[in-house]
Amino acid sequence: MKTFTLPGTDLVVPAIVTGVMRIQEKTDAEVRAIFDASLASGITFFDHADIYGSLPAHGCEQRFAEALRLTPSQRAELVLQTKAGIVKDGPYFDFSHDHLVEAVNGSLRALNTDYIDLLLLHRPDALVEPEQVAQAFDELSAAGKVRHFGVSNHTPYQIELLKKYVRQPLVANQVQLSITHAPLVTQGMAMNMEQLDQSIDRTLGTLDYCRLNDITLQAWSPFQAKFFDGPFLGNPGYPELNAVVNRLAASYAVPPEAIATAWILRHPASWQVVSGTTSPERITAAAKGADVELTRPEWYELYRAAGHTVP
Ligand SMILES: NC(=O)c1ccc[n+]([C@@H]2O[C@H](COP(=O)([O-])OP(=O)(O)OC[C@H]3O[C@@H](n4cnc5c(N)ncnc54)[C@H](OP(=O)(O)O)[C@@H]3O)[C@@H](O)[C@H]2O)c1
Repeated sequence: MKTFTLPGTDLVVPAIVTGVMRIQEKTDAEVRAIFDASLASGITFFDHADIYGSLPAHGCEQRFAEALRLTPSQRAELVLQTKAGIVKDGPYFDFSHDHLVEAVNGSLRALNTDYIDLLLLHRPDALVEPEQVAQAFDELSAAGKVRHFGVSNHTPYQIELLKKYVRQPLVANQVQLSITHAPLVTQGMAMNMEQLDQSIDRTLGTLDYCRLNDITLQAWSPFQAKFFDGPFLGNPGYPELNAVVNRLAASYAVPPEAIATAWILRHPASWQVVSGTTSPERITAAAKGADVELTRPEWYELYRAAGHTVP
């Protein structure tokens, strides 16, 4: 597994992360199989959120901890990331001081740990008061409850607003990216083309902003065709893309999942892929993508086969 020191932190992190949004209904043995397959592939980083799972909050965090019963030394070998700021019962967003502190305390209890390695603000709160975020981050940091901070689904100016008040570096921005859902990378190649939908700016320069500011990008839903509508791999709606994926998989002697992750990791921004499969075999398959370096023509062939335009 390719690893790197996450800029702005002392964390050595793998290029591929296991997201555990979908483990609520898994048995202890199934959760352990997800964990073991991850570790066997060098994935020591697990992505949580307070809202994942079926309890009002913290369901998947609790399932993870109950199933694994990690010793302190096992926990110390891991990077545990979680997110706060969404209230499921609504839904609405809440970046107030009290909500963030309470959410982290709930995550610590559910995960049965003393500290979160990386806390992300999950989705921008229209009513954000950055002074309150700063106060919450200061308290959580001073208490040793959270070691590093970041955001998810945030635009450059939303990050700049937070940075005006927050003292800790914001080191990560978790955003949706797959070969088929790629406005972050496709728009920049088609700016100012009136008749091309790809030209519409949906991401406000987030990719280049994060590169310029050494903010690591984390790609969520790397296998989903669009927004939680099933994977593009093996999907009859994407025959041309699957033909290219399968040919490249054969030529690199890896499973198709590895080509999907390799496409994201070939982009030269600092990326991590947050894979959400609960299948141990697919975790192993996806992890192999960290060892594949697609050529420039191969990267663009996948891009075109997914329906994106090279103007
Ligand atoms: N920050 C955010 O706003 C945000 C939003 C969504 C998700 N996330 C994070 O990102 C992680 C990944 O999200 P995701 O689960 O939607 O992404 P994903 O990895 O693209 O999708 C995984 C889902 O696709 C299914 N799948 C079917 N065939 C597959 C194949 N050949 N390869 C891979 N998966 C296949 C998996 O089923 P099986 O389990 O049966 O393999 C699973 O249900 C989550 O766990 C969470 O940590 C963050």
